[in-house]
Amino acid sequence: MSRVLVVGSINMDLVVETGTFPRLGETLFGQGFATHAGGKGANQAVAAARLGAEVTMLGRVGDDAFGRELKAGLAAEGIATRWVTETPGVATGVAAITVCNADNAIIVVPGANAALSPSDLNAVEAAFAEADVVLAQLEVPLATVEHAAMLAARHGKPFVLNPAPATQLPPALLAQCTLITPNEYELAAALGEPAARWQDLLARLPGRVAMTKGSEGAYFSDAGGVLRHQLGFPVKPVDTTGAGDTFNGALVAFWPLGLAEAVRRGCAAGALSVTRSGAQGGMPTLAELNAFLGSQS
Ligand code: RIB
Repeated sequence: MSRVLVVGSINMDLVVETGTFPRLGETLFGQGFATHAGGKGANQAVAAARLGAEVTMLGRVGDDAFGRELKAGLAAEGIATRWVTETPGVATGVAAITVCNADNAIIVVPGANAALSPSDLNAVEAAFAEADVVLAQLEVPLATVEHAAMLAARHGKPFVLNPAPATQLPPALLAQCTLITPNEYELAAALGEPAARWQDLLARLPGRVAMTKGSEGAYFSDAGGVLRHQLGFPVKPVDTTGAGDTFNGALVAFWPLGLAEAVRRGCAAGALSVTRSGAQGGMPTLAELNAFLGSQS
């Protein structure tokens, strides 16, 4: 199992369940409300930790009740939180999530996540030296992600970037990514090619993209540029929030097994994650994942 450093966001998810998404200007009655721990960084850290990885989280929360609850939750998952800083005078990041027929729409208000700076990373450079793999997303400032990629490179560590939410990546950052893990839409955005076929985009970065495609599973090219497809695992979805995060956490947890096997286990973990509510609610433990994989063969 790998030692994983996650540089990323920590949010409180405010989740409303509804039977239909509201139209502009419309007011609807919902069927349920819950708060869940979330944030792409924290979710991916939790997914990796549940699967047995030794995880350190680098991020910021506000100096408020949400922040304290989220930091304690990460620690309860066995994640090292000494580099999760409580930021005075700033609110913890939140995500307003509407869940409808297992699908979702999300608005993120970054709060303290926006204060995670390159100098925060310099202060804990030892964490980069100690990691086997560094994982980041795009819910913290781009300059901070670029700095994380540089520090990973300085210490000779693989740098995995989940380019979500979708945005175009500066070429220098893309060049420093060992692997990017977009969905189809995020891949087109990351490369600034909204009209291109995803197959052509994948072919441009042999061995450096693992693209998730919902229930279809994931596509990746091996180092020789050959396109590979990992089939999705059929499950009955309840809430797809956090499926991509689970894939990413599993991918880095199983990094030592090589890309194809890490992607296979990532797809299986991602499938299991959608069978329960909340981004982290359905993330499997190692025992649950092994049992699921055993039941598939
Ligand atoms: O990927 C799902 C996550 O996106 C949610 O937990 C929410 O916090 C947003 O960051």
